[in-house]
Amino acid sequence: MWEESTIAKVLFSEEDIKKRAAELGAEITKDYQGKKPLLVALLKGSVPFMAELIKHIDLDLQYDFMDVSSYEGTESTGDVRIIKDLDTNIRGLDILLVEDIVDTGRTLATIRKVLLARGARSVEIVTLLNKPSRRVYDLRVEYAGFEVGNEFVVGFGMDFDQRYRCLPYVGVLKEECYKK
Ligand code: IMP
Ligand code: MG
Repeated sequence: MWEESTIAKVLFSEEDIKKRAAELGAEITKDYQGKKPLLVALLKGSVPFMAELIKHIDLDLQYDFMDVSSYEGTESTGDVRIIKDLDTNIRGLDILLVEDIVDTGRTLATIRKVLLARGARSVEIVTLLNKPSRRVYDLRVEYAGFEVGNEFVVGFGMDFDQRYRCLPYVGVLKEECYKK
């Protein structure tokens, strides 16, 4: 396969991810009984995970997308810029923010505040991967697939320079690939 020589190790296989997504989907189904949540996937990395997750949520749900990026040079302020906003009026809705990986927590801490300010009834987070050792922003992560250490991962939606998103597994890139 094209990527093989650049991947140092596979952390989570496609099978691992599917199994974990099914478990998370079942938990969400139980926790959201009687509700009709709106899943909000953050582009682009969370798309494969959301596609897997929704197969396992047995609820009358809807989904929408947002694309955000960090303001350059304002690392400490926590500002994020909305590049593509929701199409949905979220007043009174129970929202599940779907993310590929939570790192410092800046993106989700900010977006959660924005959505609550717009009148969402609740905003919870479901992420494929969690990197708690890198957390800077105080953020409650309700549903996390797997914890990872302080290493750069790619695949199942996650990229390096927009590449590797299409891999069906999560792996660690060889150092020589991101060291110039
Ligand atoms: P945060 O706002 O610092 O939590 O950043 C989260 C975002 O950073 C994720 O949605 C990813 O786009 C990106 N990110 C953080 N760590 C990694 C990684 O190891 N591989 C790929 N993308 C990452
Ligand atoms: Mg992202």
